Amino acid sequence: KFIRFLCCVFRFKTFSCAAVEVKNEPILSFNEGSAERKELLKALDSVKGVTEEIPCVVGDEHVWTKDIRYQLSVSRELINKAIVASMAARRDWDLKPIQDRAQILFKAADVISGPRRAEVLAKTMIGQGKTVVQAEIDAAAELIDFFRFNAKHAIELQKQQPLDAEGSTNTMLYRGLEGFVAAVAPFNFTAIGGNLAGTPALMGNVVLWKPSDTAMSASYAVYRVLRECGLPPNIIQFLPADGPVFGDTITSSEHLAGINFTGSVPTFKRLWKQVAENLDTYKTFPECGGKNFHFVHRSADVQSVVTGTIRSAFEYGGQKCSACSRMYVPDSMWPQIKQGLLDIHRSIRVGDPVEDFSTFFSAVIDDKSFSRIKRWLDHAKSSPNLKVIAGGNCDDKKGYYVEPTIIETKDPQDAIMNEEIFGPVLTVYVYPEKEYREVLQLIDSTSPYALTGAVFAQDQKVIEEAAVVLRNAAGNYYVNDKSTGSIVAQQPFGGARASGTNDKPGGPHYVLRWTSPQVVKQTHVPLREWRYPYMG
Ligand SMILES: *[C@@H]1O[C@H](CO)[C@@H](O)[C@H](O)[C@H]1NC(C)=O
Ligand SMILES: *[C@@H]1O[C@H](CO)[C@@H](O)[C@H](O)[C@H]1NC(C)=O
Repeated sequence: KFIRFLCCVFRFKTFSCAAVEVKNEPILSFNEGSAERKELLKALDSVKGVTEEIPCVVGDEHVWTKDIRYQLSVSRELINKAIVASMAARRDWDLKPIQDRAQILFKAADVISGPRRAEVLAKTMIGQGKTVVQAEIDAAAELIDFFRFNAKHAIELQKQQPLDAEGSTNTMLYRGLEGFVAAVAPFNFTAIGGNLAGTPALMGNVVLWKPSDTAMSASYAVYRVLRECGLPPNIIQFLPADGPVFGDTITSSEHLAGINFTGSVPTFKRLWKQVAENLDTYKTFPECGGKNFHFVHRSADVQSVVTGTIRSAFEYGGQKCSACSRMYVPDSMWPQIKQGLLDIHRSIRVGDPVEDFSTFFSAVIDDKSFSRIKRWLDHAKSSPNLKVIAGGNCDDKKGYYVEPTIIETKDPQDAIMNEEIFGPVLTVYVYPEKEYREVLQLIDSTSPYALTGAVFAQDQKVIEEAAVVLRNAAGNYYVNDKSTGSIVAQQPFGGARASGTNDKPGGPHYVLRWTSPQVVKQTHVPLREWRYPYMG
């Protein structure tokens, strides 16, 4: 009713996006004789004194367990089953355009504002012990506002795009987190439950929702409205579980990507401690580093591959988190690319960059770094899978000098392909040209990092295919360009998985991470009445 939602086309950076108009939901008065009062009384009559049977919803099945007290209780096994179901659902959901996901929340808001208002209010009044007005400002007004405004804000966020430069375009994709989000809700606001679960889902995440055991009836009503409004199965799963069982299970899953929590301080501390204890388990967590890839398709421009790779792998001796250190080349192109790399390799000067400006890079930073890199060179020389095809030596007599080194590997899973080296060492895996799809999967799954990566291809179909498979493999993703060299406001920088919390310095959202906003309301009319009109 309050939304004028016009067609929004998102195609790279062409936004023909009319502003989404959203207003606060009006708060109804429920005065004697009003239509809303009649509706509510009817709904209250049908909820009062009735024991509602509420299932757990796992893997899109209604599950009834034997362990019933005053609520159903979800076991560890069921929660793990829900994690599996959510991980299977997340890829498609995350790829859906934000407009489609936002439509579900707009629709749910309209339904709660209209035909289901009385039901949600009655369940909040009876289940959580609220008066008419307290239920109305929560389960109707605030929840509706959360859904509408979050959807509006999410759509508008897409318009925040980086600058383009001559010869290149930059696009920011707002991906969901790679993993599941756990939503742990309190009893006191039906709206908080809906928001805790609904907003991560809106942004492309899959959610395990543990409602408060004392707000179950209203929470389940909200869940059902979302499903009826088009939320697909397994995006939000409904898990009325015992708190500690739920907390223990989610925090020990490698797929945990975030917890949206409102509740008591002891529970919060308990969850945070468990998260800390399980840090080694998680696929996505704050750290730093990269194992950046160059993927070459047979349609690639050879010269771009060669020059881009030389720069990315060897500039500053590879001591950049964005340096290319693993490359995947089709067998049909390898002779040409190898020749190109070796030709340049011969003319690279390693030495003193102050005395000689034709130096390409200098000594590595210190003795520790030198010996770490030396261990990798020794590994390359002694391993039957690996063959050094250029460089391979180092010498610390006059400084910590390491030759630019190119290695060929027969095993794409060798440690040298997944651990960070932080030195001038590039390893190449040559793959059968036809198996590029398998290689894309391989790139995505080989290393724990997800910082930068590049795809070299002229074939537009392959570029699109790679973008989907490698969607979570890099926070900074390059097409026909090297994996290094981000520019402020053009390619805000950062990655997820073991590469960090993807804060994107250089972009508009980075500054937000360092503020704790305060909201100030000043009222300019005196306050006189404490009773509400419907009470009379
Ligand atoms: C989760 O949502 C609630 C609001 O419902 C908010 O107060 C809280 O800070 C959120 N937590 C995170 C981690 O975003
Ligand atoms: C709701 O209740 C929880 C305790 O379960 C409390 O931590 C939280 O601050 C309350 N939230 C609001 C918005 O009142």
